[in-house]
Amino acid sequence: MKKTFELKGHILDSLILSKLLDKIEELGVEAYAAEVKVGAKRKDFSVANLSLKPMIMKKWIKLCKLQKFRAQKRCDMAEKILMCPPLYFDIKYSINPWMNTDIRIDAKKAFEQWQNLKSILQDAGAEIKIIDPQEDVPDMVFTANAALIYKNKAIISRFKYKERKKEEKYFFDWFNENGYETLILPENISFEGAGDALYLNEKIFAGYVPRTDISAHTCISELLNIPVTSIELATNSFYHIDTCFCPLSGGYLIYYPQAFDSYGNKVIEANVPEEKRIKVTEEEASKFSCNAVNVGKTVVTNLTTERFTKELEKKGFFHIQTDLSEFIKSGGSAKCLTLKI
Ligand code: ARG
Repeated sequence: MKKTFELKGHILDSLILSKLLDKIEELGVEAYAAEVKVGAKRKDFSVANLSLKPMIMKKWIKLCKLQKFRAQKRCDMAEKILMCPPLYFDIKYSINPWMNTDIRIDAKKAFEQWQNLKSILQDAGAEIKIIDPQEDVPDMVFTANAALIYKNKAIISRFKYKERKKEEKYFFDWFNENGYETLILPENISFEGAGDALYLNEKIFAGYVPRTDISAHTCISELLNIPVTSIELATNSFYHIDTCFCPLSGGYLIYYPQAFDSYGNKVIEANVPEEKRIKVTEEEASKFSCNAVNVGKTVVTNLTTERFTKELEKKGFFHIQTDLSEFIKSGGSAKCLTLKI
């Protein structure tokens, strides 16, 4: 059995190698390159004719993987994340079931945990941008709720609770000053940014009821010209979609099925094939395992189980656990503390 295909581009270019690896993967892991005939010489847009036989050429595959990894790392370098130092982070009110105003925040510990997360993300290849914290808004540290970003557009959040509404102005100013086209929704609609709207397979999956109104979904779809799939959040504890649903690169999804009703689960199952779904247990969900930050192949979460790490590794991800216990007291974790911009 011989399978051939054509690749246009420079065969020594890592992008082409990475496409080649994708093709090999698509043809099935058993069918590896036995002969690689490179068409023309080293020049742009030469044509590589590759004959594939069901034989293994380990070295070649290894090289492809390495090149793909490097290309991926370079792409990831371009990934920018907005974070806000937890200088004024505190529990001064309770707007979700995790928040208890009798429980104090250890400011020093919170700062260390936040710094650790920041360093891990930088090591994974992300560039961290900082917005200055403001004294009157203790939850501003959760930048996932600042806005929904699409290319150069930022749809600024319209917070549900008055306690967080003051953040809107700070985020609006930051995006304006940093060259984004800032868009706003009608005043009577609540929408909590990337906390409730996540990209998966060229679509937005958006949560509603606790914090975001379903009418906001129509608005964001029209503003960005992207299809939005609405999923109801069925519990109080998982009140933003990013607490129970996390798309990963390659079309994978971490989620907690019990945070959705049977209809929500049907929608998820219809959109993500079984082999790409990574379900978390109740224990893992309560440790905010779905509230993950994905940079390239790295997935960062709060401390959770070894089982979950193994599940991620099986799908080819590298899992890093880091203690974010101070932020869990406020109902947030790794993903809530970041916004991809
Ligand atoms: N205390 C914050 C709130 O209730 C936590 C926000 C968590 N953010 C998130 N994207 N899930 O609004």
